[in-house]
Amino acid sequence: MSSQDDLFHPVVELPEPVRRARYDRLVGLDDVKDRLRKEAILLATPDRLRVWAARHYPGMEVAALPLFIDRVPLFVFTGDVGSGKTALAESFGGDLADQLNLPVLLYRLKLATRGSGLVGEMTSLIGDAFAHLKAQASAARTGGRTRRVLVFVVDEADALVQSRAAQQMHHEDRAGVDAFLAGVDSLAGAGLPVLVVLCTNRGNALDPAVLRRAAATFTFGRPNDQQRHAILTNALRGLNIRQDTITKLTELTGAAGSRPGFTSSDLTQRLVPAAVIDAFPGHPVRDERLLTLATELTPSPTFIEHD
Ligand SMILES: Nc1ncnc2c1ncn2[C@@H]1O[C@H](COP(=O)(O)OP(=O)(O)OP(=O)(O)O)[C@@H](O)[C@H]1O
Ligand SMILES: [Mg+2]
Repeated sequence: MSSQDDLFHPVVELPEPVRRARYDRLVGLDDVKDRLRKEAILLATPDRLRVWAARHYPGMEVAALPLFIDRVPLFVFTGDVGSGKTALAESFGGDLADQLNLPVLLYRLKLATRGSGLVGEMTSLIGDAFAHLKAQASAARTGGRTRRVLVFVVDEADALVQSRAAQQMHHEDRAGVDAFLAGVDSLAGAGLPVLVVLCTNRGNALDPAVLRRAAATFTFGRPNDQQRHAILTNALRGLNIRQDTITKLTELTGAAGSRPGFTSSDLTQRLVPAAVIDAFPGHPVRDERLLTLATELTPSPTFIEHD
């Protein structure tokens, strides 16, 4: 079996200040954040659902409770580029750690060995990763108490979980989907404190068997006016930019005709850094230059589904 280092990027223990700040800066994702928080609370402390039922339905047998036991703790993050899928998947564990007052371990699958052409490699990589996680998650619950929660992120999962129906799919990729399905199924009913998050741009191409197992699928999109305003306000803090400039930037970075609006990452990773680089080293960021740069930059193209 592959070692932890072959399977995962270095495991990160949350909470951790850099990721906490990243989580706090994510705008427009409150519904997803709330949902993940509740799901994790129920996974880590399943008794709380029984307490809820006893309080609101005293003396009744609530048929919905056992349904939770067989569910797979799988969440799919899908949607446009630069919309916070990876950033949220890799940081929400810090919030869980705060809520649960427990450490959260972040495991990120290494998909780097993909494409080396060795038949069976993908299958065993995924199989080993789930086996490893199950062992770690079992050890995380001792004496009936949850000591740690695990978050397992499969990022850029496009190729891995593309529909098995896709004509062009190679044998090895189909094996990847099957191994992934077997892995998540092995977590169902195990009552282990592990959440699986799968991120992909290609929501439409996801294998239906993967989608139907997801406890929830969240679609991420480009920020609306209010969200761009909030992202710009955060990103420009401390640069003495005028309020009316931020309002104009919000307009300039919105959709215009057939041109899409800026992605969140267009704002944080291109526009604002470009303005800083432009001013560096000689002078402060000028409002006028910021507006010019916003008109000059083109937003990232929308991800086109190939199905
Ligand atoms: N909702 C958001 N609010 C604030 N900033 C955001 C948001 N989404 C993305 N960003 C910024 O863009 C950066 C890149 O986002 P991220 O890597 O999570 O995108 P992604 O959805 O995974 O994109 P891709 O599909 O290309 O992998 C983040 O680190 C953050 O700075
Ligand atoms: Mg990403």
